[in-house]
Amino acid sequence: MRNTASSKLEGGFNSNPPTPTEVSLTISPQDLHDSNSSLPSLGAGERALAAAKGSAKRLIDIWFSSKCAVLRGLGIIDFSLPPNHILRRTSSHTIRHYYESGLTSFLPIATAAIADGVNLDESVSVLDFACGAGRQLLHLTRLYPNVKAHACDIRADAIKYLRGAYPTAEVYANKFDPPLKYPDATFDLIYSVSVFSHISVQDAQLWLAELRRVAKPGATLCLTFNSYTSLERYHESGKHSELSAEKLKEMEFFFDAEDEAGYARRMAREVALGFGHPGMLRPTGDIFYSAEKARSLMEAAGFELKKILPGVIDRMQDLAVLRRPNQ
Ligand SMILES: C[S@@+](CC[C@H](N)C(=O)[O-])C[C@H]1O[C@@H](n2cnc3c(N)ncnc32)[C@H](O)[C@@H]1O
Repeated sequence: MRNTASSKLEGGFNSNPPTPTEVSLTISPQDLHDSNSSLPSLGAGERALAAAKGSAKRLIDIWFSSKCAVLRGLGIIDFSLPPNHILRRTSSHTIRHYYESGLTSFLPIATAAIADGVNLDESVSVLDFACGAGRQLLHLTRLYPNVKAHACDIRADAIKYLRGAYPTAEVYANKFDPPLKYPDATFDLIYSVSVFSHISVQDAQLWLAELRRVAKPGATLCLTFNSYTSLERYHESGKHSELSAEKLKEMEFFFDAEDEAGYARRMAREVALGFGHPGMLRPTGDIFYSAEKARSLMEAAGFELKKILPGVIDRMQDLAVLRRPNQ
């Protein structure tokens, strides 16, 4: 790395803030996915409840963005924050958690990519796949301003926010299924945090093939997934206690997802909140892989698995460092 870590890590809390871009929270119909037609219709009571929740969330969004503006004005923070309802969706309930967990999940990726020969100080093309509310994109664009940053996610409202907040990054709302809009062999580095930990094995296979297509020959990929360390964390909070590491090894993977009907009702409730369709076409959940199964999935997709770093993401997920072979 050309710059020292300390100079790159300045900023965040209690530093001299630049003026951040103010972002409109209004989502227009063309920003939203329009795949509502196949959803079950909700009862009047359920619709009314969702509409009331949506209004409450909008009020909290206004309060939260005012609070952020005050914190920025006072020089306490110097970065942009998504609307509160988007922030909370990616498991960050506080501003500090959004900033710090973004940093602690991004740094192992940057470190692994640099160790694998990606020069993030140059204008290399980087894709943040399933970027959510931009937890990692925040740090990619701050620490490595020379890279050509791209990001995508199915959540159109998050993409709308990111477009305003990161004008130098190219962000767009992709569909739940491949393909992405990028030509073959576009990216030097692709990273993705916490999506292969939620989608089914079949969807993971589809996306691994697609990420391989858009990776340049020789590109590095850093993908996170749940394995034995995540399982330990879940056990600590009393979840999935029936699944031991030995059992996972035997089963190869374990997918805990809702059934089709439950999933469809959840989507319908989300739409009724008034923030648009989340873009999901099939159920997602928590998926855990044995290290061996993760390796075989990635190798079957045509990647060379360079290494797996257990538990380095959010002190839970493993980070797989992959290389797209040259031919
Ligand atoms: C747990 S969040 C992680 C977001 C972000 N990477 C982070 O770590 O904060 C998972 C994200 O994957 C996105 N997602 C799920 N399926 C997707 C797909 N097929 N294509 C793109 N994004 C997807 C969701 O919308 C959500 O934002």
